[in-house]
Amino acid sequence: MRLPRFVVTAGPTREHLDPVRFLSNPSTGKMGFAVAAEAAGRGCETILVSGPVALKTPAGVKRVDVVSAREMCAAVKEAVKGAPAVLVATAAVADWRPAECAGRKLKKREMSGTLRLVRNPDILKTVKGVRKIGFAAETGAPEREAARKCREKKLEFVVANDVTEKGAGFGCDTNRVKFVFPDGGVREFPLMSKRLVARRIVDEVLRA
Ligand code: C5P
Repeated sequence: MRLPRFVVTAGPTREHLDPVRFLSNPSTGKMGFAVAAEAAGRGCETILVSGPVALKTPAGVKRVDVVSAREMCAAVKEAVKGAPAVLVATAAVADWRPAECAGRKLKKREMSGTLRLVRNPDILKTVKGVRKIGFAAETGAPEREAARKCREKKLEFVVANDVTEKGAGFGCDTNRVKFVFPDGGVREFPLMSKRLVARRIVDEVLRA
């Protein structure tokens, strides 16, 4: 059997309003880097499209660094070309960006106190013709939201976690996740290392 190419998004995106100010979130990229390490370790060609993070590139992984959601979207479209690919979208992509980005640092007096935002592209929704796995970090009851996302974005499954739970989500080395499938099926896992969560994700992808 030919192994698929893994294209993994990881980390946050930064949405600049000027060269020194941006909107972002606390994603560290650990989950995505763990998925990329696991996929490469299993012999799959792996491309990791990463927002700004402080992590070392795993062995055998091709890394593409990006800053904004639009850059991440373009890099993913490029990365999925030319081979049967699986997109694993772990990145915490900013949903909105400032409507304008100044070419130089804005002076305090030039800022009105109101920031106009526009929507960013939804990478998972935009990229077509590949197998897709999504993530859903929610606060409370993630399954229902995850099942909806799965159907709406045409995903094979969603890795759902409640970020308010201790040891799960942003910055931790552990996560407690559920795989939620489009038919509403749920596979629940105990609290485990992100590397082990990554192994389960790659197992599920390669099993199909
Ligand atoms: O709808 P929501 O943003 O909660 O969906 C989360 C999933 O969608 C994650 O897998 C995330 O990486 C992906 N996503 C994306 N592009 C966006 C927003 C989210 O690929 N602009």
